[in-house]
Amino acid sequence: MQAVILVGGEGTRLRPLTSTVPKPVMPLVDRPFMAYMLEWLRGHGVEDVVFSMGYLSTAVRNVLGDGEAYGLRLRYVEEPEPRGTAGALKFAESLLDERFFMLNGDVLTDMDLTAQLAQHEATGARGTLALVPVDDPSQYGLVRLEDDNAVREFVEKPSSDQIDTNLISAGAYILERGVVDLIAPDQNVSIEREIWPQLVGGGLYGFAHPGAYWLDIGTPERYLQGTFDIIEGAVKTEVTERLGSDYVAIADGVTPEGRVVPPAVVERGCSVAAGAQVGSLVVLGDGVSIGADARIERSVVMQGAEIGESCVLRDCVVAAGVKIGARTQVTGGAVLGEGVTVGADNILTRGVRVFPHVEIPDGAIRF
Ligand code: GDD
Ligand code: MG
Repeated sequence: MQAVILVGGEGTRLRPLTSTVPKPVMPLVDRPFMAYMLEWLRGHGVEDVVFSMGYLSTAVRNVLGDGEAYGLRLRYVEEPEPRGTAGALKFAESLLDERFFMLNGDVLTDMDLTAQLAQHEATGARGTLALVPVDDPSQYGLVRLEDDNAVREFVEKPSSDQIDTNLISAGAYILERGVVDLIAPDQNVSIEREIWPQLVGGGLYGFAHPGAYWLDIGTPERYLQGTFDIIEGAVKTEVTERLGSDYVAIADGVTPEGRVVPPAVVERGCSVAAGAQVGSLVVLGDGVSIGADARIERSVVMQGAEIGESCVLRDCVVAAGVKIGARTQVTGGAVLGEGVTVGADNILTRGVRVFPHVEIPDGAIRF
């Protein structure tokens, strides 16, 4: 089976993390985000993957390569300019099989695609959308169904008065090649706003996955949530095996002087000084150093970052190569981009986003 994965979005809601690394290959726990998706697809019989790309596409290609490492054939198609979710599919048309999966490239999930495929065949559908329940459908595509699972209506980003179901499109579709004929060539076309409404009543079905794990990782809050869910084992991934029954992975050769509280991942070359506490719900990338008496909780600290003594990091994401001076507090959903330098005695909180390579002097910011 073939899969087409859309990875052309700019990932604006994940800036400044996606200012330097495209969303599909952003590190998530210990591997590029896309590795989880590829592992999941392979488990449902996918052998051939076509990436439809735009923004920072060379980086995606460099990280994922030809797919040998994942046991898959990976190919890449690059749009000359953003074509939208349907235009991107149209652009890949010459590589498409008669039937294929189409996926948004930013979902972490263990949905049973095999069961969805069985319904697709049984109904003779032209398209079958994976559906999941969410608390707030307003940021997604809302789907109303008939009793036989045919789609009655599709409403992208519904306003509050349009919300009468919690079922949304999970960004995983099974499509017959003929659907691609509905898309005008060489134009920006939205599959959600232009193609699904056209297909309603003409062979568009939904398949609900009520018990599945599903998360769109497209915002910093959800990126952190995905990290926690992986290291707590709420979603089954290869990382679950690595963490074992005590939910801690400390790389060989690392001997923390401070405490590591599970669930936590501490990668190669890290140092955790005396009196520091790392965890729970923390990932430290390769070569991160944590100063004496620092406290790191519910956070991701990427490769090579240096955290000074007595710092407090809670509910934050710190990108690669960041340097933070002593006693600085980074909390409340703050996101520090690659190579940021923060001096001593600062407080960064309330979802503040600091863009790559910015330098903040000692004692410059407080709330
Ligand atoms: N190649 C290409 N070109 N890819 C694109 C383009 C484009 O112009 N625009 C968006 N994409 C990719 C993004 O990279 C992402 O993987 C996917 O298409 C969906 O775009 P998002 O920007 O993440 O959309 P969303 O999250 O607001 O909404 C979509 O996903 C929801 C589920 O997470 C919609 O499909 C909703 O209906 C759905 O509920
Ligand atoms: Mg998304």
